[in-house]
Amino acid sequence: MAEDLLADIRLNGAVPRHVAVIMDGNGRWARERHLPRPLGHRAGMKAVREVVEGAIATGVEVLTLFAFSDENWQRPPTEISALMDLLEEYIAGEVDELRGQGVRVNVLGERARLGPSARAAVERVERDTARGDRLTLNLCISYSSRAELARAARLLAEEVLKGTKRLEDIDEDALRAKLYTAPWGDPDLLIRTSGERRLSNFLLWQLAYTELYITPVLWPDVTRRELFEAILDYQRRDRRFGKVTA
Ligand code: FPP
Repeated sequence: MAEDLLADIRLNGAVPRHVAVIMDGNGRWARERHLPRPLGHRAGMKAVREVVEGAIATGVEVLTLFAFSDENWQRPPTEISALMDLLEEYIAGEVDELRGQGVRVNVLGERARLGPSARAAVERVERDTARGDRLTLNLCISYSSRAELARAARLLAEEVLKGTKRLEDIDEDALRAKLYTAPWGDPDLLIRTSGERRLSNFLLWQLAYTELYITPVLWPDVTRRELFEAILDYQRRDRRFGKVTA
């Protein structure tokens, strides 16, 4: 049982306020079982539920999941449509439960690229969970960090051209305010599953001082236990943000 770990987390005290996750390894999980890749993604939905519930149990306030990258649009059309169908299925199947648990869902990314029914599902879950105040669940879909930064630069440039912002007011805070993540601040902890050691164009600005935790577990095998282990590991870190410990 993972409850022993939960008790240790509570004993230790400070929990990461914002946890981000690169959910990786669905394809390998499917391949190991001689199954088509979409079945790996389907199995990954259960892990999403586990991590959402684990985040609520520990008191994490914001959970940001990398569900579909800009680069993922280059996958075979059958896999893309399977992922979009799963997204819609996840929303249809979980929206009541999420609302009941006090989860507020936001979708971050280039949503204009989504098809009409995926976009409608995204708008629905955002609307129906808007009152959630226990956990913010950010789903990054059609998201890439470089595109997000380029968009932020463009939005700032537009304001300068319109005359609503002065060039000298463009600083880190001004850029941060144009990122999708502006309301929630930077992640304290990034978890990447399946053992890969890269950021894959995810939250490049926001992860500047984030603690990294890499587990070899493939995403569909993730349970709340892996989240708890990552949080316990985080609680042993000494975060200095470039300064020296007092
Ligand atoms: C990476 O595994 C995972 C994805 C591209 C998709 C993540 C989607 C889910 C977990 C399911 C649905 C989620 C929601 C929020 C509805 P990969 O395919 O790159 O795996 P591989 O590296 O082993 O090939």
